[in-house]
Amino acid sequence: MCGIVGYLGTRDAFPILIQGLKRLEYRGYDSAGIALYNGHLEIHKCKGKVADLEARMGSNVPQATLGIGHTRWATHGPPNDPNAHPHASNRGRLVMVHNGIIENFTALKELLIKAGYTFHSDTDTEVLVNLIEYVQDKQEVSLDQAVRLALNEVVGAYAIAVLSSDEPGVMVVARLGSPLVLGLGNNEYFVGSDATPFLDSTKKVIYLEDGEMAVLSRQGVSVRQIASDLPVNAVIHQLKMDLESIEKGGYEHFMLKEIFEQPKSIRDTIRGRLNSKSGVVKMAGLESIHDALMEAQRILIIGCGTSWHAGLVGEYLIEDLARIPVEVEYASEFRYRNPVIGPKDVVIAISQSGETADTLAAIKMAKQAGATVFGICNVVGSSIAREAHAGAYTHAGPEIGVASTKAFTAQVTVMTLLAMYIGQSNGHLSAERCVEIAQELERIPGKIESMLHLDAEIKTLSAQLVESSNALFLGRGYNFPVALEGALKLKEISYIHAEGYPAAEMKHGPIALIDEQMPIVIVAPRGDMYEKLVSNVQEVKARKGRVISVIGHGEMEVRALSDAVIEIPDTLDCLSPLLTTVPLQLLSYHVAVLRGCNVDQPRNLAKSVTVE
Ligand code: AGP
Repeated sequence: MCGIVGYLGTRDAFPILIQGLKRLEYRGYDSAGIALYNGHLEIHKCKGKVADLEARMGSNVPQATLGIGHTRWATHGPPNDPNAHPHASNRGRLVMVHNGIIENFTALKELLIKAGYTFHSDTDTEVLVNLIEYVQDKQEVSLDQAVRLALNEVVGAYAIAVLSSDEPGVMVVARLGSPLVLGLGNNEYFVGSDATPFLDSTKKVIYLEDGEMAVLSRQGVSVRQIASDLPVNAVIHQLKMDLESIEKGGYEHFMLKEIFEQPKSIRDTIRGRLNSKSGVVKMAGLESIHDALMEAQRILIIGCGTSWHAGLVGEYLIEDLARIPVEVEYASEFRYRNPVIGPKDVVIAISQSGETADTLAAIKMAKQAGATVFGICNVVGSSIAREAHAGAYTHAGPEIGVASTKAFTAQVTVMTLLAMYIGQSNGHLSAERCVEIAQELERIPGKIESMLHLDAEIKTLSAQLVESSNALFLGRGYNFPVALEGALKLKEISYIHAEGYPAAEMKHGPIALIDEQMPIVIVAPRGDMYEKLVSNVQEVKARKGRVISVIGHGEMEVRALSDAVIEIPDTLDCLSPLLTTVPLQLLSYHVAVLRGCNVDQPRNLAKSVTVE
């Protein structure tokens, strides 16, 4: 996600744009920039936060009443000055900011290069602003028509704001798949990815809908359809939300917002990487280490915390779908235990922040031993992403809540695609099974959306855990790592001691812990391990344990044995962690809220552990 702002009015644009960008930094913060019109278009941009941009500009601030700004969450190209927005067209006549992913930017870039265009960044955004210039020159049309015609050639998601030095009193904006809000002031107009940038100036807003564009001028705002150019009778809303609640999208905490963003973050992580008809996975990072993957005697997965749990799901996936031996290692242990590792090994490092010190040190050691390192990070251009030989980003967007939620399911999504890719390549995964998994994976975001309606029910259920001092989470097979992750979530945000365990392992000791006081959360979706889990639940009930179970629709045996159930949609075993994790995230969230804990910033924790 990135943050976009725009201003057209009578006041000095610079302070309005900078203030607006600071309010949008929760959407992305690896680089920032603004473009101002003061007789000509002037761009100031740099890697770093908005404050860095402001400091770099110092007193060298042009007077202007028209401008746009951007705070970036990198998706194409690492955070650096050239990749920062705004981007200018080749002739400098147009400047643009963009939030989203243009899927067909490579083809468009080739067309423009053939037409003589040159590029100075790795971004899809620079391709789009040059496409608009190209169309305007070819068709000899106004800026708004050039934007509209160009967008009709684009595949992907976007929210854009464009200025032209030929039309200095105009700003053209458009959206498809990424949010854009217009603020209507007194003889001044605002644009934002949400309303936070201008909430203190006006509460009159228009929410652009997908497929709509708007032309802002000193005469007013006109909203039109991108496809047809037909006018839209836009609804003007009077905002009631305050600043902080808008940053959280109306949710009480970032963690809850990020739990609810998972359908989108999984769709974004899959986007452009999976052909659901053929089941074929296409990921440049994997193709670049194809030979190493084919020759690998084993695959090592390294991570910490929740990322380690995603790695454990990855072990089940790779061994199931690609039949390559996998070992999952805590980075902090791996780096010091003098492991046996060499050139035949492929090491997968998983890290949301891409800055975890133990994980970074572990992969440096693996590289020195000759292993091939593949990084799975959520922060573009992060240290681990740059240290790895190859990688794939989870397109989950900034994860602000310290407790990882959407990053985890995005990591598991990438691990699924990776396992499918290897299985397809080495022949262990049949074409039929590929298609079956691919088509079900495409259905997962919708199934999560349906589960999110359980939030109120889970909130009620969470009261059963509020007074607990301990809890057990049990799962088998693909859902053993989910039990570990569920326990970690409860521990880290509610401070209740919780343990995740393989369900069958209970009889080897931990079952002694069970009494009427001990809540046991059992992850028992329909699937290969279901029958075994029924007997595990019976063992727990025989000791009077209180069972909360996560089950598939219509499962009667476990339901009959449970004190409370959370019913989720059915899916394939190998994809079940993407579903079973979500109710556990919500359960821990509501327990923590009821216990009055600081959900987004739990005590003693940091979002990125960059020290040993
Ligand atoms: C997860 O909720 C925790 N915040 C923590 O375990 C985290 O997963 C761990 O520190 C690893 O962080 P990383 O993914 O950024 O490397």
